[in-house]
Amino acid sequence: MPTTHNSQNQAVQVTDVHSFAKPEEAVITHIHLNLDVDFEKHILQGYAKLSFKNITGTDHLVLDTRDLEISRVTQGENGEEAKFSFGEEVKFLGKALTIEVSKTSEVVTVYYKTSPHAGALMWLNAEQTAGKQFPFMFSQSQAILARTWVPCQDGPGVKFTYSADISCPHSLMALMSAENDTLLHKDGKYHFNMPQPVSSYLMAIAVGDVRFHALGKNTGVYAEPVMLERSIDEFVDMQNMVDAASGLYGEYAWGRYDVIVLPPSFPFGGMENPRLTFATPTIIAGDRSLVALVAHELAHSWSGNLVTNATWNDFWLNEGFTMYFENRIMEKLYGRDYADMLDELNFNELQETVKELGETSIDTHLFLSLKDRDPDDGMNEIAYIKGQFFLKTVESVVGREKMDIFVKKYFTEHAFQSMTTEKFIEYFKANLIQGDLAIANKIELEKWIYGPGIPSNTFRVKSKLLEKAAAQAKEFLAGTPAKELHTKDWSTHEWLHFLRNLPEGLTKDQIVSLDKKFHFTQSGNCEILCDWFQHTIASDYLPSEAQLELFLMNVGRRKFIVPLYKSLVKTAAGKIFAQKVYLNARPGYHSVAQQTIDELVK
Ligand code: BES
Ligand code: ZN
Repeated sequence: MPTTHNSQNQAVQVTDVHSFAKPEEAVITHIHLNLDVDFEKHILQGYAKLSFKNITGTDHLVLDTRDLEISRVTQGENGEEAKFSFGEEVKFLGKALTIEVSKTSEVVTVYYKTSPHAGALMWLNAEQTAGKQFPFMFSQSQAILARTWVPCQDGPGVKFTYSADISCPHSLMALMSAENDTLLHKDGKYHFNMPQPVSSYLMAIAVGDVRFHALGKNTGVYAEPVMLERSIDEFVDMQNMVDAASGLYGEYAWGRYDVIVLPPSFPFGGMENPRLTFATPTIIAGDRSLVALVAHELAHSWSGNLVTNATWNDFWLNEGFTMYFENRIMEKLYGRDYADMLDELNFNELQETVKELGETSIDTHLFLSLKDRDPDDGMNEIAYIKGQFFLKTVESVVGREKMDIFVKKYFTEHAFQSMTTEKFIEYFKANLIQGDLAIANKIELEKWIYGPGIPSNTFRVKSKLLEKAAAQAKEFLAGTPAKELHTKDWSTHEWLHFLRNLPEGLTKDQIVSLDKKFHFTQSGNCEILCDWFQHTIASDYLPSEAQLELFLMNVGRRKFIVPLYKSLVKTAAGKIFAQKVYLNARPGYHSVAQQTIDELVK
C-alpha cells in the first residue's frame, strides 16, 4: 500500500484513488512556478521546477497532469534533459506523467503550457466582470483540478511549499494563495512565496483589475474597484472573526487573512485558499447577512489547510469540522440565537439531502467511497452537515469545555499534516473517549462514520427565531394576507425559512400577493432570490421569468444555479426555457458548473 509523508516525514499509509503519483517513492517538497498569463490565448505558459525527496531510490518520478502540453523536462540544476512519458488518459484523472530521474536528482523542471480549456482556470472577458473594463482570470483547484494548471502530485495527502514568478498584463494585479504584495506592479511582474507546506488543491491564482483595502491588523479585502466599497462594508467584522477563531482553537498559522471578491461566475460560495480566501460576490448582500461564509473559509485555516483530509474519501474531516467551527465563530460574534438559526437551516438541508440520496445509501456515510468516481460527487451536505452534527452531538455528550480542549489539541498536534478517518478515530478514542464506555455508547462513533442516514442520537437544534418565521408561513397559508404578516426585522435566514415553509405550487394569487408586498423578484439577495425562484418556477409565475433569466446569465455559483436548472427541466416548457438560457449562459460558467449542468439540461 502506498504511503504519503507528512511534514515531520512520518509515513502515513494512504491509498489515494484520485492520484497517479507515488509519493511513497519520491515526494515533492517545493514547487517554483514561472508562468506568463496570456489573456489572448487563454493559457498559462512557462515552467514548474519541482524539488523532491527520493525516498526509495527510485529512477522515476510520477506526477498528475490533465490537458497539459509539455514540451520538455530537465533534471538537476544544470538542465540536463530528462526522458518523460504519459500514461493512458483516465476519466476525471487525466494522465500520469512519468519522468526518468537519476538516483541523485533532487529537482526536475517541466516546461509546459495549459490548455485554453484547463479545468481549473476560468478566463473572463471584460464584459463578465463588475467593472466591465478589464479581463479576469481565476483558478479553482479543489478537488483534483490543480493538475490542469500545474504538473504536481495532486492528492491532498502530499504537502509542499511553493513560490512563483508570474507575468501578466501591465494594468492587472496578480494574486496567489501565498504572501501577496498589496500593491499594483506597473510592470506586471509578481513574485509569490508560500513558506508553509500546503496541499496542491490549495494552490490558487487570480489576475484582474483589483485593489486592496486593509480591514484590521492582519486582514483585508481585494476586489474590483467598483466592488471595493461594498466589500469593505460587508466585511467589517473580519478581524473580529480571525481573533475569535484564534481564541477558540489556537494561533492563526498563516500570517495574513485576506479575501478576494471575484466576479459572479466563481462556481462556489468560497474557497479557502490559504492567506487569500476566494469568494463569490453573491455574499455581498448589503446587510452583512451572509458573512458566515467568511467564518467558514476562515475556519478552514485550521480544519483543512492545517489538518488536511488525507484523501477525498476523508472529505468530512475538512468540511464537517469547518461547519462546526464556523458556527462557533458565528456564535461568538453574533450570539447563540443567531447561530442556532443558521444551524437549524443546515439541519433541514441535511434532512433533504438524506431523503434525496436515500436513508440507507452508502453515499450518506461520512467516510466516502469515491473510487472510479469524480470526487465532486461526494461534495454534498453529508460531509458538511452530517459531519457538523456529528461534532455537535459529541459536544452535547462530553460538554463544551472538554470538546474545546480536544479540538484545539487535535489541530495543534496535527498541524501541517494530513489526516485519515481511521487515524482520526484512533485519536478520538485515545483523547476524548479514553475508555469511558458510557460516553462511547452515547456517541456511537462508528454508526456516524461508517453508517447511513442521520443517527437517532443526533443533537437537535431548535431556533426560536425560525419558529416565528415558520408560524408566519402557516398564517399566510391559512389565509392571512401578506401585508398583515409580522416580518419586521427579519434577517435573510428568517426569510429563507419562511419561503421554505411554503409548499411547492403556490396559487397565482398567493405568489402575486407575496411579490407585491415583499418584492422578492426584485431582491438583491441571491439566497432569497434563489428560494423565491423555486416557487415561481413551480407556479409558473411569468413576471419573474426575466429576472430568473438575468440571474442565470450573471451568476455562476453552482449551489444556486444547479437547483434552479433542476427545477426548470421538470416540465417540458421549463426545459425549453432552461436550454435556451443555458445556451447563452454556459460560456459564463466555470467548467465544474458546466459539467454538472450539461448533464441536467441535455
Ligand atoms: N472547500 C469548499 C469548496 C469546495 C469543496 C470546492 C469541494 C471544491 C470541491 C468551501 O470551503 C466551501 O465549503 N464552500 C461553500 C460555502 C460554505 C459556507 C458551505 C460554498 O461554496 O458554498
Ligand atoms: Zn468548506
